[in-house]
Amino acid sequence: MTALDTPAWTPSSWRELPAAQQPDWPDPAALEAALDQIRALPPLVFAGEIRALRERLAQVQAGQAFLLQGGDCAETFGGFTADAIRDKLKVLLQMAVVLTYGAELPVIKVGRIAGQFAKPRSKATESIDGTELPTYRGDAVNSIDFDALARTPDPDRLVHSYHQAAATMNLLRAFTRGGFADLQRVHQWNQEFVASSPQGRRYARIAEEIDRALSFLRACGVDVDNDPTFHTVDFWTSHEALLLGYEEALTRQDSLTGDWYDTSAHLVWVGARTRDLDGAHVHFASGIGNPVAVKLDHRATPEEAEALAARLNPDNVPGRLTLITRVGAEHAEEVLPPLIRGVRDRGLNVVWSCDPMHGNTFTAESGYKTRHFSDVLAEVRAFFDVHAHEGTFPGGLHIELTGEDVTECLGGAQEIADLDLSDRYESACDPRLNNKQGLELAFLVSEMLQG
Ligand code: PEP
Ligand code: CO
Repeated sequence: MTALDTPAWTPSSWRELPAAQQPDWPDPAALEAALDQIRALPPLVFAGEIRALRERLAQVQAGQAFLLQGGDCAETFGGFTADAIRDKLKVLLQMAVVLTYGAELPVIKVGRIAGQFAKPRSKATESIDGTELPTYRGDAVNSIDFDALARTPDPDRLVHSYHQAAATMNLLRAFTRGGFADLQRVHQWNQEFVASSPQGRRYARIAEEIDRALSFLRACGVDVDNDPTFHTVDFWTSHEALLLGYEEALTRQDSLTGDWYDTSAHLVWVGARTRDLDGAHVHFASGIGNPVAVKLDHRATPEEAEALAARLNPDNVPGRLTLITRVGAEHAEEVLPPLIRGVRDRGLNVVWSCDPMHGNTFTAESGYKTRHFSDVLAEVRAFFDVHAHEGTFPGGLHIELTGEDVTECLGGAQEIADLDLSDRYESACDPRLNNKQGLELAFLVSEMLQG
């Protein structure tokens, strides 16, 4: 299908186009009934907030702010606890403080949270001991348990996802407004990390400098203890817009502007497996007013980026389109320069973000799917180097992490080895950095930013 045959956009017009990675729902009527239920439920975020994030991302594009996006590869129904949400927020806030200091810029904090329940998969089925079943596609679709009933897509899970997203959102709003995000408190956690672990000690200097900066502010008469700037943070939500029925059901018309917004999250992205220019996902994303992102793997070309921008951001609005490169450390130095240069030379307004996770996944000898901290760091380093060389702004990081002390990624100062992976490997999908590795990455990036 060519751009000329593309249907006029409505929240449901994607249905006329090929949609990759959609589950094989056994009962289409039950699916539509579940989507009707969601359609009748309140939005999870509001149009005004979505527009505010777009403005923040425009600042990122202009080099005046830095984007930190992170969270689970896949949220699960079983892992839904207040503590888990708190700890995820905590590590993101800790990282943000360190990055704010390193970049000398405000950090825009976006969670992969409150809706990250669906996964694209490379294989439609999974075989264990001769039994072949549909692959696990995230808790919004089926269960990770390996039996036929559990793996059958169940549309009630979409409704469950909505409710969990709503409860998560509620807690996030409380945490970010109710004192949990207090700058001094977050800084204190970082100091604890520095003091309590050998891997943290390396970063004592940065922690001390932040401490001195706070003392300086106090000495200048800034009321660090009571000024709301230091007590609350803006925190935004995001997920991959994969299950288009769910996204459609939460796409609402803004009464103020008449524009359509996907109110399932502030920002949604199109994944590397669904970014077909003429496919349903890019088409759906083209009509919503949210800031949108697209994942680009090592095969992406400047021409493709240009075509994506033509569809997703024809008016070249700053902050509307984020390109997330996830090319893998081994390809980064080769593929990033022509891509970034090509986009720059075409005058396309984009935020560049680096996902150093998805291009660096491999299966360890133990059989666990993992990533090495050194590869993650190498891709981040290449991203910053190439942008410095091309005169473009390295706008942000997109990280899979958790607030818990899991053992899913190798290396880091904790030196997690293959034999350690089985200790606490809890991810339902891809391996995540644990809280220490996340913070360590932030300190290393902070050092990089300071040259
Ligand atoms: C993801 O972000 O979890 C993901 C599947 O990424 P990608 O589309 O880049 O492979
Ligand atoms: Co992932």
